[in-house]
Amino acid sequence: MHSEVTRIAELAEAGERMIERLRKKAFLPESRKGLSVRYGIAEAAALLGCSTNRIRMAEDDGRLPPPPPTENGRRPGYSIEDLLHMRQVLDASPARAPLDTPAIIAVQNFKGGVGKSTVTTHLAHYLGVQGYRVLVVDCDSQATTTTLFGFNPHFNITREQTLYPYLSIEPTQADLLYAVQKTPWPNVDLIPSNLELFDVEYELAASGADGGSVLASRFRKLKAGLLDLARGYDIVLLDPPPALGTISLAVMQAANALLVPLAATTPDFCSTVQFLSMMEQVTEQLMNAGIEVDYDFVRLLCSKFDANDPSHAMVRQIMEQSFGPALLPVPILESAEISHAAMRMMTIYELERPIGTARTHKRSRNNLDEAMGQIEALVRRGWGIAQPASEREVVNG
Ligand SMILES: Nc1ncnc2c1ncn2[C@@H]1O[C@H](COP(=O)(O)OP(=O)(O)OP(=O)(O)O)[C@@H](O)[C@H]1O
Ligand SMILES: [Mg+2]
Repeated sequence: MHSEVTRIAELAEAGERMIERLRKKAFLPESRKGLSVRYGIAEAAALLGCSTNRIRMAEDDGRLPPPPPTENGRRPGYSIEDLLHMRQVLDASPARAPLDTPAIIAVQNFKGGVGKSTVTTHLAHYLGVQGYRVLVVDCDSQATTTTLFGFNPHFNITREQTLYPYLSIEPTQADLLYAVQKTPWPNVDLIPSNLELFDVEYELAASGADGGSVLASRFRKLKAGLLDLARGYDIVLLDPPPALGTISLAVMQAANALLVPLAATTPDFCSTVQFLSMMEQVTEQLMNAGIEVDYDFVRLLCSKFDANDPSHAMVRQIMEQSFGPALLPVPILESAEISHAAMRMMTIYELERPIGTARTHKRSRNNLDEAMGQIEALVRRGWGIAQPASEREVVNG
C-alpha cells in the first residue's frame, strides 16, 4: 500500500528531476553555465572611470588586444575577462591595498524569503563587474545561492565540497582551501552548499553536555578559516540559513559587517525587529563567553520595494523612522526581471539580453547598480578610500 508518507519521497524525486531539467535548459551542455554578458566600449570606459579614447589608444599601441570583432548578429563587446585585463593594463583596479582588511559581510535575517540569497548573488556579480575579487560562501543547506551560481546542489555538489568536512565534529579538512570553486565569473569564487551541510547542526544537537565547547570551537574555526581565505579577496559574502543555529551563529561572528535585507511589508518589519533584538542578546552572550563580535557597519536594505503599492511606501516610512540612517536610502525594487532571471538560475548581471522589455530591464539594472553601490561605498569607506559623502548622507548624519 502506498502511504501518504512514501508519497513525500516521490514528490521530492519528481521535483529533483524537474530541477535538473530546468538547469539543463538554462545552462550550456556541460554542467556549468557560461558567462556571455558583454560590454560596449562606452560602458567599459564608464566602469573603468576613463575615457573611451584611453581604451582606443591602448588598443592602437598594442598595450591592449585589438577591439573585439563584430560577430554575425551578435552584439560585440568586452567580456568580464577583457574588462579585468583592461583594468590591469590601465591601472584601474578597485582592489583593496594589501594592508586593508577584506570585508566579510554576513547577509542575514532570521526571517525566510526576505531576499538574502538574491542580495548575496546580485551583490557578488555587481562587485564582479566592478572588478573586485569576491568570494561567496553559501552557508545555507537550502543552497539557493549555489543554485543561482549554476550548480545543482543535489547532483553536482557532494557534502565533501561544502563547509561540512571543515566544520564537522570529526573534521577531515584543516583549512577551507579545498572548498573554493571557480564560477563562470573569473573574479568570483564560491564555496557551495547542499542539504547535507545540515549535518553540522545535527552533530551539535547530538553532542549533549559538550555542546558549549563544540559550538565555541566551530566559531573559532569558521572565523579563522574565512580570515585565512579572505587574504586572497577584496570582499567575502556569507549567505547563512534563516534560523538561529550553529552555522548562523558561527557566520555572525566570523563576519566583520552585517547587511540585513527585508521587504517593505509588516511581517518582514516585525520579524526583522525580532531578529535585531535576538542578535543583541546573542552577541552579548557570545561576548560574555569571550567570543568577539564586531562589525564595521550594520545596515538594513529594503530588498523588494514596489513603488506602486501604497502599503510598501507606508512600511518603508516606518522603517525609515525606526532605523534612521542604518536603513540604506536606495531600496532594491521588486522586479519581474529579477524573478525571471532566478527562474533561469541567473542574476540580472548575467543576462545577455532583457527577459522582459528593455525598459524594465534597464530600470532594474540601474536600480541594482545604485543599491549595490551603497554597499560598495561602505566597504571602500572601511578601506579609507571613500567617495565624497552625498548630500543625503550629510543630511541624515
Ligand atoms: N527585488 C526582487 N524582485 C523580485 N523578486 C525578488 C526580489 N528579491 C527577491 N525576490 C524573490 O523572492 C524570493 C525569495 O528570495 P531569496 O531566495 O533571495 O530569499 P532568502 O531570504 O534567501 O530566502 P531563504 O530564507 O529561504 O534563504 C525568490 O523567489 C526571489 O527570486
Ligand atoms: Mg536564501
